[in-house]
Amino acid sequence: MKGWMTRFKAVMALTVMALILSGCGEPFLSTLQPRGEGAAMLLELIILSTVIMLFVFVVVMAIYIYVIIKFRQKKGQEDFIPKQTEGSHALETLWTVIPIILLLILAVPTVQYTFAFADVNTPEVSEEGEELDQIWIDVTGKQYWWHFEYEGLDVTTSQEIYIPTDRRVYLSMISDDVIHSFWVPSIQGKMDVNPTGNRNEMWLQADEEGVYWGKCAELCGPSHSLMDFKVIAVSPGEFEEWVEDMQGVTGEEEPETATAQAGQEIYEENCLSCHAVGSSPNKVGPNLTNFADRDKLAGVFDMTEENLFEWIDTKGEEMKPGNLMVDAPYDLNEEEINQVIEYLMTLSPSDVTPESADNGVYIDSDLSDLFPEEEEDADEESEEDDEVDEDEETDEETDENDEE
Ligand code: CUA
Repeated sequence: MKGWMTRFKAVMALTVMALILSGCGEPFLSTLQPRGEGAAMLLELIILSTVIMLFVFVVVMAIYIYVIIKFRQKKGQEDFIPKQTEGSHALETLWTVIPIILLLILAVPTVQYTFAFADVNTPEVSEEGEELDQIWIDVTGKQYWWHFEYEGLDVTTSQEIYIPTDRRVYLSMISDDVIHSFWVPSIQGKMDVNPTGNRNEMWLQADEEGVYWGKCAELCGPSHSLMDFKVIAVSPGEFEEWVEDMQGVTGEEEPETATAQAGQEIYEENCLSCHAVGSSPNKVGPNLTNFADRDKLAGVFDMTEENLFEWIDTKGEEMKPGNLMVDAPYDLNEEEINQVIEYLMTLSPSDVTPESADNGVYIDSDLSDLFPEEEEDADEESEEDDEVDEDEETDEETDENDEE
């Protein structure tokens, strides 16, 4: 009896936790709050299958309870055996046909949508009826980050892709090492990324501007859960501006300050064999063209100088276990690391950054623009801290608050 109670309590606790956690959805990372055509279609399927399951559950439970009450053993009838219905044609037919109908109701839209998700060949048509050029991005999954090349545009980046709103962007995906899975829950379903040479293709589309959080959805090693990336949806005009700015980078630009110049030299001696600035083929480490514009460091950490220092100093050994940088042969002292950081922070070729997407869903720790009521809270907290410059340092300030 006691064992049962413990088990019952454990099940109840798990149920309550599941209910609470399922409420954690955020619009930048939730299949239940779709912000793109693909995710909206998936939500329809989720709702459809849930309704069918609930229907089956309710009907079965109703019949079950009815039968228990109606046919329970009555006093004085202990030896009574009710009429047996084994082999009843009517019943057998009924419970064969009903599931078939339910499965058909599920299968037809599921198959339809599966084909729609895989359709990368039908070009989109503009409102004027013209065929739009397809924007293709070559995606390479690597332990534990993502490499992106915009086909025909001569733009390379990693960790964060920019896409225009209301337009499909097509992905051709492959892996360099093990199987990963590319998933941006709030705008599209997931797709495996295979190392075997076959490219999987799909499209992404975001209805509104926003920074959408992407996850690797296939266990791929010790830092699988840290293999995050972002899809930054900006207006079509901003997207074009971003592409042009990125195209303009050669990697040979000289930074303004002497410290950053020193950092650039150190970078060229120690980092260039694995990383690149400017359009580049797929290298061992992430492309850094717009490094300073990134919303997150290594996909998951707040972009602060402290985190960046720790990353370079420890080669991310503890921050992202199993990452290849651990084997990098460089040995830099504190001053050199700071110089490299100063150089890296000059890598900001465009005014189009994750903040350009702030008309929409935004995941940055600074949510004040989007959620005015939270701004008051943040202000109260900052008064307790030292006075901080409003615009420029709000990010850092919020980061500090987060850490506290
Ligand atoms: Cu890559 Cu999990």
